[in-house]
Amino acid sequence: MRIAINTGGGDAPGLNAVIRAAVLAAQGRGWDVVGIRRGYSGLFKPHGIVPLTERAVSGITHMGGTILGTSNRGNPFSFPVERSGGTVEMVDRSDQVISRIEELGIDCLIAVGGDGSLRIAAELANKGLKVVGVPKTIDNDLDATAVTFGFHTAVQTATDAIGKLHSTAEAHQRVMVVELMGRHAGWIALFAGFASTADVILIPEIPYDLARVAEKIGERWAEGSEFAIIVVAEGAVPKGGEASYLEKPALSGGRRLGGVAKMIAWQLEELTGHETRSLVLGHLQRGGEPIAFDRILSLSFGTAAVELIAKGQFGCMVALDPPRVRGVPLAQAVSKLKTVPLDHELILSARAMGISFGD
Ligand code: F6P
Repeated sequence: MRIAINTGGGDAPGLNAVIRAAVLAAQGRGWDVVGIRRGYSGLFKPHGIVPLTERAVSGITHMGGTILGTSNRGNPFSFPVERSGGTVEMVDRSDQVISRIEELGIDCLIAVGGDGSLRIAAELANKGLKVVGVPKTIDNDLDATAVTFGFHTAVQTATDAIGKLHSTAEAHQRVMVVELMGRHAGWIALFAGFASTADVILIPEIPYDLARVAEKIGERWAEGSEFAIIVVAEGAVPKGGEASYLEKPALSGGRRLGGVAKMIAWQLEELTGHETRSLVLGHLQRGGEPIAFDRILSLSFGTAAVELIAKGQFGCMVALDPPRVRGVPLAQAVSKLKTVPLDHELILSARAMGISFGD
């Protein structure tokens, strides 16, 4: 038996722990393991396939990033190919991916990724590739698993950062608006905002009204707490409006989520008369060492993926269904974006404590 592992999409703390666990579990069964570098691109590159031995995965559990590299531009169904004259054409290379995997004698692929990468894995499975998925994303927006690895580390990083904002906000009697990742789901903002006792948390699931946010800031000043911390998810939407995007024609898709904190800060300064500053925490949330929870989850996912292969459960993704890790069909796993339910216990608790959601 020979299996391959690749990591695709944005990185998340815990990827290396998955790789280590899968390699050790596979070797324990006498299987051979290789890694495909940078998503699927390694299949077509001179040094793109690397042997994953016990030695290769030694001492990597705690490391952020991925020893295999990753890419969010390597969709084999829409692969960018540079043509003469510098133009880029998107071509379907999925058949080549499958035949190259066969050529390399690979019996099954473990695809570690978020919804984009797992969607690709599901499509490759439909075309006959034996593949098992592992859910990764700091955004925690995959519905079929109770939690994705990387999420809790991102929450910890954001919580630590917001903690530091408190003192500078208080020293200057300022409003600080901090923008967190999460795409169209508010998980990171909700958890980090709650843990760091933000005054206002704005998430895509609850459209905000800045007049209500300004009211909350007014209350803070009235009660003698002359500073405020506002946590906003990058995908937050104003009532009756749209999420903020950074427009750049050269971007794939032409635009990228972002800019909401700056926009809100300017408007709030006008509305409240209080000095306001904004910051975007950005990719810091994806970097660094996974916390213990994510290491444990990643290691469990890695061994569970090998277990699924051993049972012949291809076309599945490992998922946490507490207290167990089990397999769910990939097609089901990518069918729905997991957003924060409006009656989530953290929302209810936060409201009970006077935290505003801007609604
Ligand atoms: O999916 C994870 C994520 O970190 C999102 O929260 C964010 O919008 C996106 O990736 C940014 O990705 P990149 O800058 O790598 O394109």
